[in-house]
Amino acid sequence: MNDVKFPVMAPRPEKSSSMFKRLLWARKNLLSVWSEQEYELKFFQFKILNKQYVVCNSPETVKTVFLEEHDNYDKKSPQMRHALEPLLGDGLFVSDGKLWKERRNYCAPAFNNKLMSGYFDVMVDSSNELIQEWEQKATLGQVDILNEMARLTAKIIGRSIFGDETQDSEVRTIVREFSKYQKNVDQINLADSLGIPALSFMKNPYRQYKLKLSTHRIHNVIDTIIERAKTVKEEKFNLVSMFLTGSTGQLGKGHACPLSLEAARNESIVMFMAGHETTANSLSWTWYLLSEYPEVMKKLQTELDEVLGGREPTLDDIDKLHYTRAVFEESMRLYPPVPLLSREAREDAEINGKKITKGANILVVPWLLHRHKKYWDNPDEFRPERFLPDAPQPDKFVYIPFSVGYRVCLGKRFGLIEGITCLAMLAQKFTPKLTQPEKVEIECRLTLRPKKGVPMMLHKREVSLHAS
Ligand code: HEM
Repeated sequence: MNDVKFPVMAPRPEKSSSMFKRLLWARKNLLSVWSEQEYELKFFQFKILNKQYVVCNSPETVKTVFLEEHDNYDKKSPQMRHALEPLLGDGLFVSDGKLWKERRNYCAPAFNNKLMSGYFDVMVDSSNELIQEWEQKATLGQVDILNEMARLTAKIIGRSIFGDETQDSEVRTIVREFSKYQKNVDQINLADSLGIPALSFMKNPYRQYKLKLSTHRIHNVIDTIIERAKTVKEEKFNLVSMFLTGSTGQLGKGHACPLSLEAARNESIVMFMAGHETTANSLSWTWYLLSEYPEVMKKLQTELDEVLGGREPTLDDIDKLHYTRAVFEESMRLYPPVPLLSREAREDAEINGKKITKGANILVVPWLLHRHKKYWDNPDEFRPERFLPDAPQPDKFVYIPFSVGYRVCLGKRFGLIEGITCLAMLAQKFTPKLTQPEKVEIECRLTLRPKKGVPMMLHKREVSLHAS
């Protein structure tokens, strides 16, 4: 008898359900629109009120959109822009064309390799602080791991890229208000999803008010961080100084023109949001999986004991933690933090031999690609071994948690190192266990997060010290 255990999935509707009906379900969970059959198609399209929607679901078509014909598909879809513009303005994440190119070049020095060891130290120190907090809580009871990971990753971004002693209360405000923002933005998004302005009466004014309130509160915190950064005189790299003065501190080469205050604020919010929410979600899903698969947790902790033997990791150690990395990568396969990437075609074109009309909505769906029946064995199973160094490498246009091509995540290396480091440090000391595994649900808003958080009990563990 096959007693394979599957981690939580999104419901898959009947093939025959109309797209309109599916979009109505999508208001609850954006991932429930895809039928079983669509997990094996390489390309498909549908129309809603004359608007063409195209799903690129193969390495070839993803390559066309994100790499070969990037200039025609660099523009984010109107839904994505409407959802994020109130918060991010014209920030890198939603901009396109010339402005996007300029801003991408402008932000890139923040991810220079030379800065990574400083960022890594922040990741280690911040994880240590959380370990100390958890040592108190381990005797007190349960925590919501989603909230814990969001606080941790927000602190890491504040301290590393912003070079700022971001306060706990500020971190809490950002985490709480962004969560509310996602909730409210999603509720008013149906009109945008369908591209029907007439449906905008469905925008609930109360939710719009809440959206504005969250935006205002997040802007306030970021403005305070910017004000503090203006007073720092150190030659250390600091993102805000770079935006406002053009100085890259220790990197030694500056930009010709500083950004305006508004642009600096927009880009700062992009970095804060893009940088903390995704990593927090992927870490939370990883803890969920490790609790559901204790044999995997055991292997991971054995590796940590062998490689680290109870000490803190160094940046060089991260490359030696093969199994820990594989667990994190497999977790992002099953639960890609950004599960849906959407673009708008600038001009008429062709993909997969099919005509694409100007304005068509082009969807690349990591959620579908990562569970595609033709590209993965047993796609819905949790198998970290797929990502071990001696396993065949997945196609880089199929496994795309950080996207791929020109608009690939700017913080890809940062996010990977951060995920592995936090996991390694915390799993050495604790074995968090789900208190109600059956209640963990998938929620897809702007990102893929566990609905209602992940309540877990923290169990302290003894580190085995016979390692190298
Ligand atoms: C596990 C962690 C992360 C994941 C899975 C992730 C995923 C992604 C994805 C899929 C995109 C492309 C979105 C699109 O094209 O619509 C993206 C863009 C971006 N990410 Fe990340 N990200 C992570 C961590 C980070 C971190 C730590 C930072 C910064 C410190 C960051 C900064 C950015 C920025 C600035 C962009 C916009 C790039 C552009 O449009 O040119 N990300 N990320």
